[in-house]
Amino acid sequence: MAVTSVIGLQWGDEAKGKIVDLLTSGFDIVVRYQGGANAGHTVVVGSDVYKLHHIPSGILNPNVMNVVAPGVVLNPPTILQEIDSLAKRGIEVSNNLMFSERAHVVFPWHIAEDRAMDSKPVGGESIGTTLRGIGPCYRDKYGRSNAIRLGDMCRKDFREEVERIVEFKRSMLTQLGSDETLDAAAIYDEFSGYAERLQPFVADTTGYLLDSLEAGKSVLFEGAQGALLDIDHGTFPFVTSSNSSGVGVSGGSGVPARWIEKVIGVAKAYTTRVGGGPFPTELEDEMGERIRELGNEYGTTTGRPRRCGWFDAVAVRYTARLSGISGLSMMMMDVVSQLPELKICVAYDLDGERITNFPTHADDLRRVKPVYETFPGWEQDITGIGKMGDLPDGARRYLDRLSELVGRPVEVISFGPDREQTVFAD
Ligand code: IMP
Repeated sequence: MAVTSVIGLQWGDEAKGKIVDLLTSGFDIVVRYQGGANAGHTVVVGSDVYKLHHIPSGILNPNVMNVVAPGVVLNPPTILQEIDSLAKRGIEVSNNLMFSERAHVVFPWHIAEDRAMDSKPVGGESIGTTLRGIGPCYRDKYGRSNAIRLGDMCRKDFREEVERIVEFKRSMLTQLGSDETLDAAAIYDEFSGYAERLQPFVADTTGYLLDSLEAGKSVLFEGAQGALLDIDHGTFPFVTSSNSSGVGVSGGSGVPARWIEKVIGVAKAYTTRVGGGPFPTELEDEMGERIRELGNEYGTTTGRPRRCGWFDAVAVRYTARLSGISGLSMMMMDVVSQLPELKICVAYDLDGERITNFPTHADDLRRVKPVYETFPGWEQDITGIGKMGDLPDGARRYLDRLSELVGRPVEVISFGPDREQTVFAD
């Protein structure tokens, strides 16, 4: 399909980067449209492992144009490190990368604010952010008075803007109990240097995307985080600060929804979450530990151990519908293939009532008890299979039930980080 998006259906880290990387050869343009350096997309090509935070996974394909749209918040030093490390490894980064001049910039005050705020629990639990300044930067974007966009960094009043905002942020940080100091002159010098280096990549990406679509170019949208972390539709307040479900594609990129023909939902065969917040199927026992070790479930961006649990079909059915997905890519099937027994959460018990809708309030979600169906493990190495039909019967039954509960077909399964460790539906 000429215009496709790839969306994570859980709490992020579903291995979307791998699916995007597999698809890029069929597209002219790959677009990142929300989130920022909180994302970490790992792409494995042979023995090479690439960890990308802002730059779309399409950068590994020489024929693809990579666009970072207005909805993303940019951390210039991280971007420059990404560009340099790709260049060092022989990946060309020149006129195949564009950043929207409308995208907002994360400044040191945002990171200081994130640190100060995250130590203050929300309703008894801290959000556990990635401390990349994401929430504070989006807060300033929506607040408008203290926001600086990429395009603004090349304008004459950039120095005055930094000075004005630093003064405001200093008193704010003091009130938050932070002892971080902000030096306006040093920040201005540092960020002017970044602006100069990023200048060749700065563009009106909205105009470029609309022109490209009208000219018949194909576009792949790469979601960051997962739909359960969506600011409007996720497990608020334990979410990120952007629309990370399928509904975010248009707002973040500037491409009207009518262009999007296909939405691929990516989910793990189990569930993980980093940071705070309710997680009904969490396994705080040996099985959770086993899944974490088998799946190497440690954050790409922060290295934090991820919380692990069973597949939650109530949550994924919700996000699959919310994101308008056409089919599922089921990831980490090699991990569940090693377990003696598996469970799928088919409903929740909320105060004695069986429900299959996803609660809107984090407190309700915290109270639900998962209702499970249990499946015998198949305990077979599936890494050598060449097609869906080669799957062991147990794996087939597990996927068939999961697909029935979510209400969408399984179109792809992945059983390892390599491009080759993937099969598509026959
Ligand atoms: P923030 O996006 O840094 O503000 O973090 C808010 C919440 O989203 C925290 O629970 C983070 O752990 C989570 N989060 C943010 N980005 C990612 C991601 O790329 N993968 C998984 N969780 C994420």
